[in-house]
Amino acid sequence: MGFISQDRSVIAVGAKDSQRRLFDCLVYMPHGTTYNSYLVKGDQFTALIDCADPAESQTLIDHLGQAGAGRIDYIVLLHSEQDHSGNILAMMALYPMARIICTEKVRQLMEIHHHLGDENMTIVKEGDSLDLGGMSLTFYPVPFAHWPDNTMAHLMPQNILFSSDLFGAHNSEEEETGDLDASLVRSARSYFSEIMMPFRKSIAKYVALADRLAPAVIAPAHGAVYNKPARILDLYRSWISDDVIGKVTIPFVSMHDSIRTAVDCLASQLEQRGIEVVMRNLGKEPSSLLIETGELIYDMVDAAAVVFAFPTVIGGPHPAIAYAAITSNAMMPKTKILGMMCSYAWASKAVDTVGAVTPNFKGQRLEPLLFKGLPTEDDLARIRGYADLIADSILTGSL
Ligand code: FEO
Repeated sequence: MGFISQDRSVIAVGAKDSQRRLFDCLVYMPHGTTYNSYLVKGDQFTALIDCADPAESQTLIDHLGQAGAGRIDYIVLLHSEQDHSGNILAMMALYPMARIICTEKVRQLMEIHHHLGDENMTIVKEGDSLDLGGMSLTFYPVPFAHWPDNTMAHLMPQNILFSSDLFGAHNSEEEETGDLDASLVRSARSYFSEIMMPFRKSIAKYVALADRLAPAVIAPAHGAVYNKPARILDLYRSWISDDVIGKVTIPFVSMHDSIRTAVDCLASQLEQRGIEVVMRNLGKEPSSLLIETGELIYDMVDAAAVVFAFPTVIGGPHPAIAYAAITSNAMMPKTKILGMMCSYAWASKAVDTVGAVTPNFKGQRLEPLLFKGLPTEDDLARIRGYADLIADSILTGSL
């Protein structure tokens, strides 16, 4: 809990979950997360913006009590995903006179996901305002940041932009912040890569919208409140751009060190050419597949190239690389070069399978490099040539 505005009219009443490690059964969260909700007290009316994850129902209720929310007139739903709307029935029971304020798209998705009717709803459109007495919320739908229904709300005169999932971070350890520290930047970039990156083109419009609104504070649905929004907006501008840096990320699986020998050779040659290399070992530990796939996607925010390296298992790719390929492909990567290295012993269609599940890699596709079992000296020479091909493309800018 805490005051978000200097006039104490906006209070954070959401919940932290420092123990949660997995979101959507997909995203690893080493620092937990928060489900931000905000109580906005106008001179005449009080609004609650979002209502946290169902697992944190009691925390939300306790915080509302501590914030003196004896009456709530409006429950503003900026997004229908359960981590922000899952307590809607509890809130309606607690505040039966409250009207739900949301867009038509939120209404549709609340019906689908919560079977919630529209009897108590007021539908708002872009530019509509909700007068609370001495302050008002103006609504801006931001479709596909990251669902079709995400909505931002701009509170004036406090000049606070409630940005829904946009600009968020899965990080329960950071408080309201002025200058982002390295940990929060990392969490915000990781969140961007796994949640917002597929929608870069749309996000660019919303960053421009945030620029135009020039908020004094950005209050997202996850993570810290930004008291100096310029920094997170600058970071988003770089993350959504088409620019890449001289970096190659190598997700790999090696059962008996054949692939390990190959990726070490590839990495060494790339580094000798001045290229930054990041290796993501998908098979190191039982948890590596999920965590390192997340790191691979993090890398792809600015990596020029990705090289999937994997052995053949029962005629196809090792399933771990298939998971990483499918998951990273879903993120609509801007990576400019896609390569593959694959070992096999008697038969392999493995590279065809990985190629087929990566249609969203739109850049240059290198011919896959195959070798039998443990790479021979000739194979290693071919791998060094593969590295040179990648380095030449990056260093000459012919991407
Ligand atoms: Fe944080 Fe899309 O929910």
